[in-house]
Amino acid sequence: MAESKKGMRKGLTSYGDEEFSLFLRKAFIKAGGYSEDTLELPVVGIANTYSEYNPCHGNAPELVAAIKRGVMFAGGLPIEFPTISLHESFAHPTSMFLRNLMAMDTEEMIRAQPMDAVVLIGGCDKTVPAQLMAAASVNMPAISVVSGPMLSGTHGAERVGACTDCRRLWGLHRAGEIDKEEINEISGRLIPTVGFCGVMGTASTMACLTETLGMMLPGGATIPAVHADRMRHAEAAGRRAVEIAAEGLTPDKIMTPESIANALRVLMAVGGSTNAIVHMTAVAGRLGIKVDLEAFDRMGRETPVLVDLKPSGENYMDDFHKAGGLRVVLREIRHLLNLNCLTVTGKTLGEEIDAAPEPWPQTVVRTVDKPVSRSGGIVVLRGNLAPGGAIFKQSAAAEDLKRHTGRAVVFDSLEDLAARIDDPDLEVSPQDILVLRNAGPKGAPGMPEAGYIPIPRKLAQQGIKDMVRISDARMSGTAFGSIVLHVCPEAAIGGPLALVRTGDLIRLDVPERVLELRVTDEELERRRAAWKPSVSSEGARGYHKLHLEHVQQADEGCDLDFMTRRPYVAATPKVKA
Ligand code: FES
Repeated sequence: MAESKKGMRKGLTSYGDEEFSLFLRKAFIKAGGYSEDTLELPVVGIANTYSEYNPCHGNAPELVAAIKRGVMFAGGLPIEFPTISLHESFAHPTSMFLRNLMAMDTEEMIRAQPMDAVVLIGGCDKTVPAQLMAAASVNMPAISVVSGPMLSGTHGAERVGACTDCRRLWGLHRAGEIDKEEINEISGRLIPTVGFCGVMGTASTMACLTETLGMMLPGGATIPAVHADRMRHAEAAGRRAVEIAAEGLTPDKIMTPESIANALRVLMAVGGSTNAIVHMTAVAGRLGIKVDLEAFDRMGRETPVLVDLKPSGENYMDDFHKAGGLRVVLREIRHLLNLNCLTVTGKTLGEEIDAAPEPWPQTVVRTVDKPVSRSGGIVVLRGNLAPGGAIFKQSAAAEDLKRHTGRAVVFDSLEDLAARIDDPDLEVSPQDILVLRNAGPKGAPGMPEAGYIPIPRKLAQQGIKDMVRISDARMSGTAFGSIVLHVCPEAAIGGPLALVRTGDLIRLDVPERVLELRVTDEELERRRAAWKPSVSSEGARGYHKLHLEHVQQADEGCDLDFMTRRPYVAATPKVKA
């Protein structure tokens, strides 16, 4: 980096006179009381995603203070700036619709403002993916700090935590086993502290994947949001940010096909969220790296699930942290990892694993000899219903439904689902397969987490807890059930899901990786001739229009087509067929 382009001299505003631009910039920032000497220091930007709409980032002000401390101790000038902040429950129609906007905002604010490195404060589901996408595109030295998981709470004698228990207990309320008074009381127990959801949902998964990628200091994924260690971690990240600015350690040296393969491996080993596949595909796509779903599926067959956490297991993130956190997992599967990958510390992943504390007796992270399950939690299905692939989280599914043929009961949209799912006259049996369509990237829009289709109330009241459900939507990483997701291509652009009719037979065979609509090709062609698209960008405006016209399918990470790097320059993971 040329000397003249460092710190406050970077990216000067265009007035046609660079010295004047610098003079004016300094004049304005001196309103904050900065001295001339201070303004000569390397600048570390801090992307502050605090928002009162985002309790998952409720500790961001404390994190900013700790990061600033670290930056200043290392001789840098910290400057915080706001970006879009997204919380799952405060984003309409769904936070996924806005992930690409946050990525774009973060990228442009990093690019537009003078900084030599950036610390990205993420946490809630879409924030970390958006920030990694931005970091990949802008390719400036960057380091991730997450808010950290919330602590678990209690309801009576029972331990609870967002949001697996939110869904489980709401299911009991729907079934009439929990009354209105108790469910209201529970809503005050589920989330006892700030921080992201304390199970292996999308936020926890993305935190673990970011640490594995090497974009976060070691140990940072699992420290609870309210622990003092979380602030020490943030301080250390601030210090390190000054160093990577000087070293020119850019994200493209860290996020490579090999480190992304490591992240996908860890996704399997922690029993992580299905959403992380879409997000990692989007991050990789920014670097021109294609995530090969077939190879990912093969990787799952040879990767044991080691972490016993909800929604697939029993424990919470605070237990995972007490057990030693992600480094215990990395050590256990080190023979399956690319150990030469560089991390943001300047050391390789292998060196960092070697430097991790010795393990101690615990029951949350299993050994490869005694795993939670011998093969990965997530599989990729193919067939005439999902020529572009579909995802199934087998670790969260009922064993007897993994090979199942049933009659389709089709819902045309989220509105149709809401209107009819609890209708006492709905013709449905526990052996049927619930199908929801027009809930994909374009269809909903934004591919909401609607794949966790509720069990029809009349069946729930009979004690039915699981059914096969299929959609082009996503599912919260905190949810569970025999659920086929991300059916690709989606119904709204004419994928075969658009052609299914109530009464058709569908075959799901997870061991064989098959999702098949048992309707003849001739009949499907007849139906296709009569099909009409359900969405159009006509009449849409602003970001909504941009999204409808440019969002890609799940197998491309649902990124906007003009934000990705194409053609692809590499594919990952590399796993033998
Ligand atoms: Fe923010 Fe779950 S709602 S992580």
